[in-house]
Amino acid sequence: MPTLKLPRMGFGTWKLKDKDCVKGVLKALEMGYRLIDTAQIYGNEREVGVALAEKTVDRKDFLLATKIWVTKLRPENVKTSAAQSLLKLQTEYVDILYVHWPAWQYNAKKTLLAFANLVDEGKVKYIGVSNFGPKLCDEAIAVCPKPIVVNQIETHPLLQQRIMRDYLKQHDMYLVAYSPLARGHIREVPTVVDIAKKHKASPNQVSLAWLMHHGAIPIPKATSESHIQDNFGAQDLHLDPEDIAQIDNIKEEKRFVNLPRFLFPKKFK
Ligand SMILES: NC(=O)c1ccc[n+]([C@@H]2O[C@H](COP(=O)([O-])OP(=O)(O)OC[C@H]3O[C@@H](n4cnc5c(N)ncnc54)[C@H](OP(=O)(O)O)[C@@H]3O)[C@@H](O)[C@H]2O)c1
Repeated sequence: MPTLKLPRMGFGTWKLKDKDCVKGVLKALEMGYRLIDTAQIYGNEREVGVALAEKTVDRKDFLLATKIWVTKLRPENVKTSAAQSLLKLQTEYVDILYVHWPAWQYNAKKTLLAFANLVDEGKVKYIGVSNFGPKLCDEAIAVCPKPIVVNQIETHPLLQQRIMRDYLKQHDMYLVAYSPLARGHIREVPTVVDIAKKHKASPNQVSLAWLMHHGAIPIPKATSESHIQDNFGAQDLHLDPEDIAQIDNIKEEKRFVNLPRFLFPKKFK
């Protein structure tokens, strides 16, 4: 099996709805984004599919990822809900299918075997997990008959994921960084704002450039053309070693995305 090659950055779509979603995905593809990230629970797979159906970029020239929601992780649900996602997305396959969170119906062995079957059927190219800590990754890697190539987790200067970054490097897996702009709050972090001023860049670009420096693949979400463009431009921003060191040394920690506790059965707490 050829190994997955991810672009340096992707496009996130959580909260993009209706026309904004179609327009956003089309704009992102036009600008050069080559990884589009959606999920069943975002309620926008159909709109992402409408944008992709315009075929402005050949299907083989971009990567598409979706995620199976926690209430669909029993094997029979994985099969039927993945089929529904493919229909909505108007595609024969997704490049990455994620377990969205290790919760509710998740059973490592049964769920991941169902994911592996989708790989055998050609409907999924690679399996990813999301919101997994090291122990859950260990278990998933041990029981899944196919490689787990990526863990998608919240990562930004206020949640640096140092342990998981090392873990994923050791296991030759990608870290896809969600909420890479701290859901818009990165503009309130003084260290990041100062570095942005020094480079005449935006704080968003600094956060994205710092993530890429550490080998993470950020997937910022943006609605307007100017935001989508601003984020993409982060690939041309080269931070100095002292900038990286200053961000690495930020001590404040803040997480912006949490799954409601009732969705976690006891064994995951
Ligand atoms: N696996 C998971 O559990 C999980 C969880 C959360 C997110 N994700 C994925 O990660 C993606 C990104 O995360 P996110 O959406 O939570 O947050 P984010 O990308 O960190 O931040 C999005 C926010 O930043 C604003 N923004 C974007 N570009 C900007 C710019 N250049 N200047 C000023 N503001 C800007 C956006 O506003 P506008 O929209 O108005 O531009 C939006 O309010 C999601 O869309 C989703 O695909 C995955």
